[in-house]
Amino acid sequence: MTDLTPQKDAALSAIEAADTLDALEAIRLEALGKKGWVSLALKTLGQMSPEERQEAAPAIQAIRAQIADALATRKAELEAAELEKQLASETLDLTLPAAELPRGSVHPVSQVMDELAEIFADLGFAVATGPEIEDDWHNFTALNMDESHPARAMHDTFYFPDKAEDGASILLRTHTSPVQIRSMKVHGAPIRIIAPGRVYRSDSDATHTPMFHQVEGLVVDKGIHLGHLKWTLETFFKAFFEREDITLRLRPSYFPFTEPSVEVDVGYSNEGNRRVVGGHGDAEGHDWMELGGSGMVNRRVLEMAGVDPDEYQGFAFGLGIDRIAMLKYGMNDLRAFFDGDPRWLSHYGFGAVDQPTLSAGVGVAS
Ligand code: PHE
Repeated sequence: MTDLTPQKDAALSAIEAADTLDALEAIRLEALGKKGWVSLALKTLGQMSPEERQEAAPAIQAIRAQIADALATRKAELEAAELEKQLASETLDLTLPAAELPRGSVHPVSQVMDELAEIFADLGFAVATGPEIEDDWHNFTALNMDESHPARAMHDTFYFPDKAEDGASILLRTHTSPVQIRSMKVHGAPIRIIAPGRVYRSDSDATHTPMFHQVEGLVVDKGIHLGHLKWTLETFFKAFFEREDITLRLRPSYFPFTEPSVEVDVGYSNEGNRRVVGGHGDAEGHDWMELGGSGMVNRRVLEMAGVDPDEYQGFAFGLGIDRIAMLKYGMNDLRAFFDGDPRWLSHYGFGAVDQPTLSAGVGVAS
């Protein structure tokens, strides 16, 4: 029988030198695989005489066991080293505090819309919505501004180049007042709604942006008069600005869709470089700021919206949401509202709170 000792020694030192599991597997196949030299040596036992076999068999078996042992030992070593390497490179420390994720915030305009929807909901107003892409009839004609009305020119309207199928001009609504018409046409009278939303005018400077926000208010019922309008606005402003000493000034004005019409001013005083709402008209440093228009709904508007003006009267108002937001939260540049600068938002934005939003929580009439 051939002496297997040199092959065995070579295999054992190769096993010790193997530095990958793949290399180790190659050595195993070469020795113990089906065609490996140890397996072939075992096959020769069959051709041996019983005496020879008695001597050779234990020797070959011993070699096989020795190599298998060495393989198992080296394999365990290599696996341990691999794990060690993995632990060193993948540093995941579950005891560390989690990295802070950037947090979104609620835009002041959205916050203010929620605040006012909540205050008006307490006064029994539902939230109504209308399309931002309007037709000429809802935005102007039904609001008592026919084609030749000079007030149309004051609106700096964005018109679409194409007309609707019925030939109507299509435009971006210039105010939220068309929602008055849409709501009355659907629900008739009595009705009590606010309609907050975006409006558009071709106008841009420090105090005007081409897109801004208004909230429309409309109350139609029997026996409604200007006193109801004044009380409603006063009650709203007290709740919104969280002060009792709110002074309102209703200034005679003109809107085609209200008669009589009044402009709504609120008293404020300068504290440092901030305008603070409240105080009285005769106090030092006191001034008035215009917040919107209002008046008794023109009977022609009620008629065009299908409400009988001999039976029902109404008041309506339209306030600039961005303006009242600036006044409440002390922001001074309107354009910053729509720049989308995250630094401005993280300074003035609001954390999300669990309260009704315009899309949920308050009844929506449309
Ligand atoms: N729609 C008017 C505007 O945008 C405001 C207004 C609304 C005036 C309702 C009176 C009544 O200027």
